[in-house]
Amino acid sequence: MTAPLLEVRNVSRFFGGVKANLDVTFDVETGMVLGLIGPNGAGKTTLFNCITGFFPPSRGEILFEGKRIDGLSPDKVCRLGMARTWQKVRPLAKLTVLDNAVVGALLRTKSVKDAREIAHAQLKVVGLATKDSTLAGTLPIGERKKLEVARVLATQPKMILLDEVMGGLNARESEDLIQLILDIKTSGLTQVVIEHDMKAIVRTCDRIVVLNSGEKLAEGTPQQIVNDPRVMTAYLGDSGGAKA
Ligand SMILES: Nc1ncnc2c1ncn2[C@@H]1O[C@H](COP(=O)(O)OP(=O)(O)OP(=O)(O)O)[C@@H](O)[C@H]1O
Ligand SMILES: [Mg+2]
Repeated sequence: MTAPLLEVRNVSRFFGGVKANLDVTFDVETGMVLGLIGPNGAGKTTLFNCITGFFPPSRGEILFEGKRIDGLSPDKVCRLGMARTWQKVRPLAKLTVLDNAVVGALLRTKSVKDAREIAHAQLKVVGLATKDSTLAGTLPIGERKKLEVARVLATQPKMILLDEVMGGLNARESEDLIQLILDIKTSGLTQVVIEHDMKAIVRTCDRIVVLNSGEKLAEGTPQQIVNDPRVMTAYLGDSGGAKA
């Protein structure tokens, strides 16, 4: 049996007295879309930061393709094949859409010409191919989110981690992102998706991990999770709540 692509083993991350993650364990198999959900402050982004090397876990192990990666720098983790988007999108506003994606593509090639071709191909995947020469800072939020996805795809990853790519989008823009996640899934690329919109999560994910106050509260198929009373209680206890 092949090892899972990503293994998160008893990961904890503390900030002073705050237990942002506590003893979190789960696997991500190749080709799956795993949803990571939980109320505001549950520790979802912190877990992405630990997985992608932005800070090391306080305790625990993270394995990618069977090898320990906890403690590696973000650029090393990215080179191994994991790329993430940011909850607060921050494109290089004064660069064109194409050049933003080129920055991702330059991870694997020194040739600017090749990087442009890779970048353009990924802009096509996300539906921004006609916006190559637009300044990234002028894009509406829905297209900025798509550019974020193009930038991570341009690094030619084995896994992408999307942190609330639908956050702040209207229904039509969210629908575009749902379709994009489904298209990427069809291509076989593994995805971990943080999202508050339960409908979007149920439509896109094969499995869901629920975090609450830093700990894993539940894990299962979308059907198991939406029928789990503990999950509802966790959300109802949160002032933001899940969009059902
Ligand atoms: N760099 C940091 N320094 C100190 N505390 C932090 C830091 N990053 C996160 N935290 C704390 O860790 C906890 C988890 O935060 P995190 O951002 O991971 O939650 P989240 O599940 O992504 O929430 P949201 O849904 O609002 O994005 C919070 O209490 C937060 O204040
Ligand atoms: Mg977050």
